[in-house]
Amino acid sequence: MSAAARSLIHTHEQQPIEPLTLRRVCGLFTTGVTVITTGPQGRAEGTTVNSFTSVSLEPPLVLFCLHKQSRLHAVLEETGGFTVNFLSGRQEKLARSFAGRRPEGFTGVPHHFSDGGLPVLTEALAYLTCTTVDIHAGGDHEIVVGEVVELGVPDHGQEPLIFFDGALGALESGAGRFNQADAPGTPGRRAS
Ligand SMILES: Cc1cc2nc3c(=O)[nH]c(=O)nc-3n(C[C@H](O)[C@H](O)[C@H](O)COP(=O)(O)O)c2cc1C
Repeated sequence: MSAAARSLIHTHEQQPIEPLTLRRVCGLFTTGVTVITTGPQGRAEGTTVNSFTSVSLEPPLVLFCLHKQSRLHAVLEETGGFTVNFLSGRQEKLARSFAGRRPEGFTGVPHHFSDGGLPVLTEALAYLTCTTVDIHAGGDHEIVVGEVVELGVPDHGQEPLIFFDGALGALESGAGRFNQADAPGTPGRRAS
């Protein structure tokens, strides 16, 4: 366990909840990492997001939460859609870079445009392109709901990028538990 996580042991808080403590405790919930991309050719924008979740299979809906101050809002509204790019373990630098201002835009980042004209990071583990169907209020964030119109898994062999306790890193590979498809109760096995 990291020193930061250890320092939270015995933490018990009731309202009013400190934002920083809430962020640190929520950081103990492990997630993957995405870059949300949007915008037309020449004006594509992206930001790193771990608040992605799938919502519904029929219709196919997903969501992510975007800070109200994010530079992405204007271009997201204008475009009417976005791509969720799931990052691979090799894209840690990219995750950090898209969490910043990126004055260089998409220069040096391999990308292409979907049939619907949305920017896709070519080296992502997988991607979903979506039409925005709803934006809900969510405190200092907005909850953006999209209908999936296209998806792809360009390279099946990649490990995901993981975010835990404020740290980014690749999921352990090799004989890790995600590869043991035959062991009962492991995430690789589908319940019948
Ligand atoms: C691992 C990671 C996950 C993040 N997840 C979110 C998120 O879910 N929603 C969000 O608005 N910002 C998230 N951020 C912060 C944004 O990437 C970005 O730094 C922040 O929104 C700055 O504003 P911008 O969107 O205008 O660049 C995350 C950053 C990191 C490094």
